[in-house]
Amino acid sequence: MITTAVIPAAGLGTRMLPATKVVPKELLPIDERPALQLIVDEAVGAGVDHLVIITSRSKPAIEQYFASDPMVEASLERQGRGSAADQLRRYGNDIRVSFAYQDRPEGLGHAIGCARAAVGEEPFFVMLPDELMSNSSLLIGLARVVEATGIGAVALKRMPRTELSRYGIVAPVGEERTVSDLVVFPFVGVVEKPAVDDAPSDLAIIGRYALTPDIFDDLDALTPGSTGELQLTDALAAQAKRKPLWGVISEVGRIDIGNPLGWRQAVLEAAVDDPEHGAAFRRWLSARTAGLA
Ligand code: G1P
Repeated sequence: MITTAVIPAAGLGTRMLPATKVVPKELLPIDERPALQLIVDEAVGAGVDHLVIITSRSKPAIEQYFASDPMVEASLERQGRGSAADQLRRYGNDIRVSFAYQDRPEGLGHAIGCARAAVGEEPFFVMLPDELMSNSSLLIGLARVVEATGIGAVALKRMPRTELSRYGIVAPVGEERTVSDLVVFPFVGVVEKPAVDDAPSDLAIIGRYALTPDIFDDLDALTPGSTGELQLTDALAAQAKRKPLWGVISEVGRIDIGNPLGWRQAVLEAAVDDPEHGAAFRRWLSARTAGLA
């Protein structure tokens, strides 16, 4: 079982300014819940009971969100929203929350390296909070591959050529095979944000990883890559050279809220699906958009 999830949340969120001037982008609401809560729900649904949040001292609200607050819990209870209160009460009780600090923006590889002491010697998930998944099945699948083989696994999705330069792209080697009922394939090469013509495949890394702790040595040895930052992708490439890593092609619903269109889609999807207000919202939306292209 993988029970620890590392969530890097130290970024400055400059694309969402001025909304993120005061509120960290991870705490902007998708519905009543901040985006980060949706990531935590996905993790907990996969059996995680230890969250390692990488944050920055300039974003104290992230820590505050996980701190016990009996007045907030009582207020939720009074509104008949006891399950939301129960969810908040779990932090610091049956769900341990550790914080590590990345005060300089030196890249995703540096951020994950900051989690070393909190993670210890066990396999762990990395969950990039810019990507929302519709359920926990992808994490569960990645964990099964690591448990069955002892080797790290990375979630992938086939992307159109025009999008490849926004992602880490892997180079598969060898045949697909089945591990614990999942189709996986080994990869060795992996390149961060290649130019379209240099991309080794159309298989992009989508922000979910199940990694073994030896990756921390590769993270510690990183030097700034082509982008000038310490890249998790470069550490994966170093680790895969010792033994190929697993790619798992994901079919799960996914929204990239790191871009303006994706953010709007996530907010509207939550509104459309809302059990209480969804029906009225759908009526309003279809009237509002009737006749628009
Ligand atoms: C990061 C990773 C990249 C991965 C992407 C998924 O990039 O570095 O390899 O494909 O997340 O969203 P970022 O989006 O943080 O620039």
